[in-house]
Amino acid sequence: MTIKAVVFDAYGTLYDIQSVASVTEDAFPGYGEIITQVWRIKQLEYSWLRSLMGRYRDFSAVTRESLIYTLRCLGLTYDEAAFESIMEKYLHLDLYPDALSSLAAMKDRKLAILSNGSPDMLNPLVRNTGLDRVLDATISVDANKIFKPSPDAYTLIESTLNVPPSVVLFISSNPWDVCGAKSFGLNVAWIERVTPEAMALACVESEVLPPLTMFKAIRTQMDELGFEPDHRIRALAELPALVSQRS
Ligand code: LAC
Repeated sequence: MTIKAVVFDAYGTLYDIQSVASVTEDAFPGYGEIITQVWRIKQLEYSWLRSLMGRYRDFSAVTRESLIYTLRCLGLTYDEAAFESIMEKYLHLDLYPDALSSLAAMKDRKLAILSNGSPDMLNPLVRNTGLDRVLDATISVDANKIFKPSPDAYTLIESTLNVPPSVVLFISSNPWDVCGAKSFGLNVAWIERVTPEAMALACVESEVLPPLTMFKAIRTQMDELGFEPDHRIRALAELPALVSQRS
């Protein structure tokens, strides 16, 4: 079926969340990498825990609370300025280098983000990185006050863009998001940002061992939740050809 809309996860898919490591390393020398990894794991965990508990707070609050947890858990003391400088980086994350050109090449389809991020995080980020020039919509799950992978989050694609799931290609680097989107009924491409081979090589070359590599390692494997992506890609640059093939 023709793809009428291409919808992207934000963090880790269009935006490199590991790019916060430059700021965390400046604030806490030697801890940059471990902070980003524990922070991301806890950020996701809190979004799911809050959803299950029926205690929604937006992703901005979840991101702050998980950073507090992370710094405490690593025994790091911090002042407000250091904390805010790290949080601020979330509004200026690095785009993956092929993001803008890949989206621009698919301008004949509806293009959108569907993210757990709250509007106060996503809108400045999209503006600061120039994606507002190519996107038709930046959809935050905050409209339904529940996080992906709840079906009530993915349903916002149809209600916002006016296209049924069967004509949407959803792209995520996050295995749990791929499974959630497939379970909901979208066409899904998994962008494998970290392959098991690259991971193994990186460990040998940098002599970095778990737990420092833990978050990267768990991104190399599709989750065992009974769903597989329709497509596996290694870069956003592969998408324009994939989308036009499906026309
Ligand atoms: C997103 C995250 C959680 O929804 O990756 O953008």
